[in-house]
Amino acid sequence: MSATEAGQNTTGKKQSGRVLEGSNRPMSRWHTAQQYERRYWETLAAAIMEGRVKQLDWYQYRARQLAERLRASGLGGLAEGQARVVEVGAGPIGIINYFPAQERVAVDPLEEFYSSNAALTALRDDDVRFVKGTGEELPCETARYDLVILDNCIDHVRDVGGVMAEVMRVLRSGGVLHLRVNARTAWGFWVHRVLSALRIDAGHPHTFTPTRVERTLRTSGLEVLSFEVGSFSDAWWRDVRGPELKSRFKALLGVSHFLVAALARKP
Ligand SMILES: C[S@@+](CC[C@H](N)C(=O)[O-])C[C@H]1O[C@@H](n2cnc3c(N)ncnc32)[C@H](O)[C@@H]1O
Repeated sequence: MSATEAGQNTTGKKQSGRVLEGSNRPMSRWHTAQQYERRYWETLAAAIMEGRVKQLDWYQYRARQLAERLRASGLGGLAEGQARVVEVGAGPIGIINYFPAQERVAVDPLEEFYSSNAALTALRDDDVRFVKGTGEELPCETARYDLVILDNCIDHVRDVGGVMAEVMRVLRSGGVLHLRVNARTAWGFWVHRVLSALRIDAGHPHTFTPTRVERTLRTSGLEVLSFEVGSFSDAWWRDVRGPELKSRFKALLGVSHFLVAALARKP
């Protein structure tokens, strides 16, 4: 067990001389979330095997979206195949699988589980190095990477501040973080905190609002280059019209989530 797994080294961790308040969770809470996460992917793998769900090719769309976002921010050079890229919490495939780069590393604590399941990994590119690890303790060289991808992950980690400190460590000066996370309104934030604490939403130890996302980036010492916020009302209507009772319940409670996507540069 590593120091981070033992919960020893990132409590109140400083990054760039500052501390991200309330960003840490007990190890037991994180393990509960990871058990939930594993069950989710096991269910999906079974559905793929039975032909009810197609292969995980939607990562390709997300990789194209990221390349477009980089180009729109004048960072197109990062998408031309020469960059060194690491994706944190990549899941079974990751955006990185389809992102053109000179060096590609995908880090995830569930890597052993993912790699043991052919239904989840059939589309993997052999040129990507998939490694087991956590964002709080990245198995990556300091100041080596031009781009870090943190997509649909930061609300799943144990220690947000610890992960951000590691992102800062592995990025070179001038390197860029792409962060994408589901966010909620201020009301939705507090209701979701309760749902998360009661394990009604076991999978998400953390909750974000757009303001909290921006503060997390700035407090970590990053310069925000672009910041896109999805529509709460669109998310709410999607949940109202959703086929499942669960989504209508989310709308009723005001916890419908929308995407925040940011690009931020290490000075
Ligand atoms: C919702 S999944 C998303 C996976 C992938 N990014 C995607 O969008 O399909 C969240 C991922 O974050 C990973 N994760 C959880 N805690 C983490 C941590 N401390 N460091 C890095 N990854 C973590 C989980 O194992 C899981 O693969």
